[in-house]
Amino acid sequence: MSWKSLAMNQEKTNLMEKIVSLCKRRGFIFPGSEIYGGLANSWDYGPLGVELKNNIAQLWWDRFVRRRDDMVGIDAALIMNPKVWEASGHLKEFSDPLIECKKCQLRFRMDEVFVMTPEGDVADLKELVCPNPRCKSKGNLTHPRQFNLMFKTFLGPAEEAANIAYFRPEIAQAMFVNFKQVLDTTRRKLPFGIASQGKAFRNEITPGNFIFRTREFNLMELEYFVKEKEWKTWFEYWQKEMREWLKDLGVNLKKIHEVEIPDGERAHYSKRTVDFEYEYPFGQKELYGLAYRTDFDLKNHEKFSGQNLKYRDPETGEEFWPHVIEPTFGLDRSILVTLLEAHHEDGDRTVLKLPPRLAPYKAAVFPLLANKPELAKLARKIYDELRQNFMTAWDDRGNIGKRYYSQDEIGTPFCVTVDFESLEDDAVTVRDRDTMKQERVQIKKIAEYIGSKLSE
Ligand code: GAP
Repeated sequence: MSWKSLAMNQEKTNLMEKIVSLCKRRGFIFPGSEIYGGLANSWDYGPLGVELKNNIAQLWWDRFVRRRDDMVGIDAALIMNPKVWEASGHLKEFSDPLIECKKCQLRFRMDEVFVMTPEGDVADLKELVCPNPRCKSKGNLTHPRQFNLMFKTFLGPAEEAANIAYFRPEIAQAMFVNFKQVLDTTRRKLPFGIASQGKAFRNEITPGNFIFRTREFNLMELEYFVKEKEWKTWFEYWQKEMREWLKDLGVNLKKIHEVEIPDGERAHYSKRTVDFEYEYPFGQKELYGLAYRTDFDLKNHEKFSGQNLKYRDPETGEEFWPHVIEPTFGLDRSILVTLLEAHHEDGDRTVLKLPPRLAPYKAAVFPLLANKPELAKLARKIYDELRQNFMTAWDDRGNIGKRYYSQDEIGTPFCVTVDFESLEDDAVTVRDRDTMKQERVQIKKIAEYIGSKLSE
């Protein structure tokens, strides 16, 4: 490896470290259960993180549900009737190949560590070395076995087979099992979609890379129901929509690779899948997926439930199972790429150039000097008013320069300073995070000023 590529790799590792450290230090994302020594790969969103997460989820909902008249939303239970997972194929198919080292007892996701044969095995196990850097023993790896990723639990006090249930590994099934009820209550005609957001659970073999792969994560999914003959058109349509969404997050599309998933590597329900992969500092990996699920799910749920899940065409009277295009968006991965794209260093200034709509705080208000009651009083009044419209921060510590840097680091787009002139001219200084330019704005117009900049 050349010095240049070594340096680039180091820079990428540093970027991940910087993001993780900034997230902890400033209250975006904390290690889970930290006072008990943590719980590996579990993360909690802190005061700023929850705002960023909610802003992204809200932007998604606005774009894909509220502004469209061919989309409705639902919010479903996390634990569903276990028959759902039989019908969906997840009980049988939703697994990863797992190998174990007999020496160090660590387990690995086979496909991530070694090149596999088409039969799902490795060429010569005796020759392979354990990927654990502290072990590296040769010939101690077991043959792969399929490990189901669904999280099992028991309903009620008796831990017996009849009470086994699963936490949902995807939200999609909620849209399929509610398909008929949504159709009956909303009278939607094809094409139309059902969207939802919420938690999903997978007992991942190798979670890691901060919030990239965890066992409990947030998903935003939509199932778009179409006539079979139109599936290709709608697939392309949603592929474009996904690109547009990435622009909303401030993602540089040059770092996105749309990868066609070949036969044999797609999920069991998919006839075509395009993964949206992103160049993370730890490598090019999946960000989102787009799948053509055919009529697989509705057909199987009809078979397993005995309920008619067909759509009746109002014009022709024909009954059929609609086909499904599914764009799926991991919310935690959306947060991670948004942070990675927003992170900039400019001399000793670190700035998160978040799209203003996504920033946890839209504005911060400062009195120029903390010990001047007349300034503090006016600044407090402005702060209280702005908070009615926007998430607004208050800071009266240290000097103005430090306050600006502190807000830059968490992505606050506007800083409003009340100075002595404000007492005379009813105006304040508004400083822009990205250009660092300062403008004098009339106090009565600040909310309008910030509002207009946010909708730009
Ligand atoms: N309903 C389709 C489905 O579940 P998937 O590709 O298995 O498809 C959807 O997952 C999205 O969920 C992925 O594109 C990714 O963004 C996110 N995701 C999957 N596993 C994850 C994990 N363990 N941690 C965080 N996000 C995950």
